[in-house]
Amino acid sequence: MGSSRPTLTGTDYTSPDVYDREIDRIFRGGWACIGHQSGFGPRSRRVLEVAGERIIVTGDEEGRIHALANVCRHRGSELCDPTDPTIVGGDPGPKSIRCPYHAWTYSLDGSLVATPRVDEGDIDLAANGLHRYPIEVVNGLVFVSLGRPTMTLDAWLDRYSPDAAAWLRGAEFDFTGLHLERRTATRVAANWKIIVENYLECLHCPVVHPELVDVIPLYRTGRATDPDRDDGAVALTPGANSFSADGQADLPLLPGFDADNENLYVGHHVFPNLFVDVTSTSCIVTVLFPDGAGNTMALGDYLFAPEAPDQPDFDPDTVIDFSELVGHQDYDVCERVQRGVRSATFDHGILTAKDREVATFDTHYRQALEPVDWAARPQ
Ligand code: FES
Ligand SMILES: [Fe+2]
Repeated sequence: MGSSRPTLTGTDYTSPDVYDREIDRIFRGGWACIGHQSGFGPRSRRVLEVAGERIIVTGDEEGRIHALANVCRHRGSELCDPTDPTIVGGDPGPKSIRCPYHAWTYSLDGSLVATPRVDEGDIDLAANGLHRYPIEVVNGLVFVSLGRPTMTLDAWLDRYSPDAAAWLRGAEFDFTGLHLERRTATRVAANWKIIVENYLECLHCPVVHPELVDVIPLYRTGRATDPDRDDGAVALTPGANSFSADGQADLPLLPGFDADNENLYVGHHVFPNLFVDVTSTSCIVTVLFPDGAGNTMALGDYLFAPEAPDQPDFDPDTVIDFSELVGHQDYDVCERVQRGVRSATFDHGILTAKDREVATFDTHYRQALEPVDWAARPQ
């Protein structure tokens, strides 16, 4: 007898009611990643649509990052239109945010600075800044809560992603100064959990990723992790140093890598919506923004060593092209799963022993959806 157990149900992937509960409990009651900090540089702004909420993320004059409601305090007009999600470094525009309706104007930290034609003294500027979402940065990765979180980010990470959190906070890798070269955006017609579950298992790798299993031979076995290692890393094919078609890239090593570990790959999922994939020459940060039960926007940040762009023959494309190929192979099968689980015949699927990490995610997901004691939330 095996150790199989059921997956989430078809309803969990398709129901608008379940989706609404996820938004409430996970994205408003908890924390989600919105990308690497270098995407939100000084004097920049981006409008992101995260779990149905359009938010403005700014870098102010001092380089502090703010997550602001995209809603004018005057009469509720939406302030900014969505920005092209692939813009790197934000959309350097005016140093203020001006409402298109009556021109109330806010600074990049959300403070209300002008209310044209309103009688002087009529409005308390200091009391009417934009709503600010809680925001935290961990090793260069930016997390927001779209509501009032039920716990601190640290507690959230420890509860739902203990191994990844220890790795993120550890001194081994410093992601803060990495160079953001490119950002990609892919609209996937699949529930966000299907994309997470796909990331957490490798039974599909030999079938779906013929190129990837050449670079990471362990994946031919269907294992996502190496049972002979306790650091979560996986060896690339001998002599390889990168996530690229032939495993080779002429790129400087990231901080924390040297000749002893340049052959390794480390990947982590951070609950709910972040993947971090690191080789010695690149760091790929992927964030998932759910958009209804059946759609997800996947943003990929491609980061390289701080000095990489100064290299005269800097060529990030071998890494980016390969990762996008693998990513689209994944997204295609995720869309296929979404179409399948819509069937009335699908009550649930089967998790095998090698799907252990999927099972852990499903357990955490169910815990996170449990009713929240709103009255006990920290103010
Ligand atoms: S609604 Fe924004 S200024 Fe009036
Ligand atoms: Fe995959």
